[in-house]
Amino acid sequence: MTVIPSLSRRLHGPSIWALYVIGLCPAAWYFYQGATGGLGVNPVKTFEHLLGIWALRFLIATLAITPLRDIVGVNWLRYRRALGLLAFYYVVMHFSVWLILDRGLEVSSIAGDIVKRPYITIGIVCLVSLVPLAVTSNNWSIRRLGPRWSKLHQLIYPVALGGALHYLLAVKSVTFQPFVHIGLVAVLLAYRPLRKPFLAWKRGGNPRVARAGR
Ligand code: HEM
Repeated sequence: MTVIPSLSRRLHGPSIWALYVIGLCPAAWYFYQGATGGLGVNPVKTFEHLLGIWALRFLIATLAITPLRDIVGVNWLRYRRALGLLAFYYVVMHFSVWLILDRGLEVSSIAGDIVKRPYITIGIVCLVSLVPLAVTSNNWSIRRLGPRWSKLHQLIYPVALGGALHYLLAVKSVTFQPFVHIGLVAVLLAYRPLRKPFLAWKRGGNPRVARAGR
């Protein structure tokens, strides 16, 4: 049983566009804060951190869509593409702040960071892995790639794992915020291998679930 009222069909499209706009608001707000001296004593680091956190939040939201449908019965599949793309935009912004404002586009400094800090290498691997997902996040690619599309998009799982590991290594000590974010990634990734048995168990009592899980 779903407690959240379902949205009228004609509002599906506008609600997806609203999600893009709302999703980009934190970046715009932090940019404004940074430009007006509202990000504290180290605005570049703070901006970089906030964009990283939001990248992870959108990755978490993307991963949460399927379990939400399976467990709670809320079908927000139509928002998954927007959430995934928002995660990608935030990773790109996070990376750009590191590259331009933090490292000042200095090749030796960039190379030094990549070599010395494993979490930077992990971050870059995650960013590169997200590129084919972002590029193929359109109906044309889904039609063109067929079943290979789903296979390719399973890359989201190692990316989320890498993003969480990157976070863990970057913060060094696990306080409340990293604990919650990394914990959510862990729970959502742990659900994947449990999904089939869970749906089979649910199917036992409700044949409609069997169709939804296919
Ligand atoms: C999926 C990809 C990525 C995710 C989800 C992600 C997420 C995060 C998060 C959550 C943080 C910690 C923020 C905090 O301290 O509160 C962080 C820190 C950081 N990330 Fe990323 N990141 C990603 C990719 C990258 C890439 C590609 C780079 C640059 C090459 C990068 C560079 C950094 C740096 C420099 C820090 C700050 C470390 C410090 O000095 O404290 N990240 N990232």
